[in-house]
Amino acid sequence: MALKLAVLISGRGSNLAAILRAIDRGECRAHVALVLSDRADAQGLQLAQARGIASAVVRLSDYSDRAAWDAALAARTAEAEPDLVVLAGFMRLLGPAFLARFPHNVINVHPALLPLFPGKAGPADAIASGMRLSGCSVHVVDGGVDTGPIIAQAAVPILPGDDAERLHARIQRVEHVLLPRVIDALARGEITLGPELRVDARPHPDSTLFSLEQGTD
Ligand code: GRF
Repeated sequence: MALKLAVLISGRGSNLAAILRAIDRGECRAHVALVLSDRADAQGLQLAQARGIASAVVRLSDYSDRAAWDAALAARTAEAEPDLVVLAGFMRLLGPAFLARFPHNVINVHPALLPLFPGKAGPADAIASGMRLSGCSVHVVDGGVDTGPIIAQAAVPILPGDDAERLHARIQRVEHVLLPRVIDALARGEITLGPELRVDARPHPDSTLFSLEQGTD
């Protein structure tokens, strides 16, 4: 079954672009019904508009408080009746109203190997730790900062001379592979979200893209 997606962004939208490319190639059984942003200047909005995808901006500053913004964001997202909500560089915490409306149905991509280095400075924190590996995580969103159950991870090296920007660019290359693969695995029923996360997806043959329950050959 092709999944109907609502994709939430705040910035460049390179993960949104990667999802759309994978869909075009027939590698991700999904379609993007709605792109939402909390910022009017998010570059990813132009991508949605160029592709004729419905898009909207729901800015925190237009609402009296966070709860009102969260409820408005949830209501606008619900209009699209998505099967799955994908946070692809959405830089704000979702509140209780949103999560109650889409229980166990929101995923996020984070530029670190969670549970290490949650929050906004994942690449910089990984470099500062002295570790030689970092990567990205796709996880279920709960009320915390990058705390929900981890679905899949991909690793990249931290190289001598890396700064946060260089490492983040390397991590994004694997994000662009992993996020569409997770969405496709969800569409195929290889991953089931719910009160219990189930991951039956097989690992990518030449990488560590899936970290849990690696099927047998
Ligand atoms: C990604 O690195 C993601 O991990 C983080 O925000 C960044 C968004 O990048 N949550 P983009 O907007 O998809 O290019």
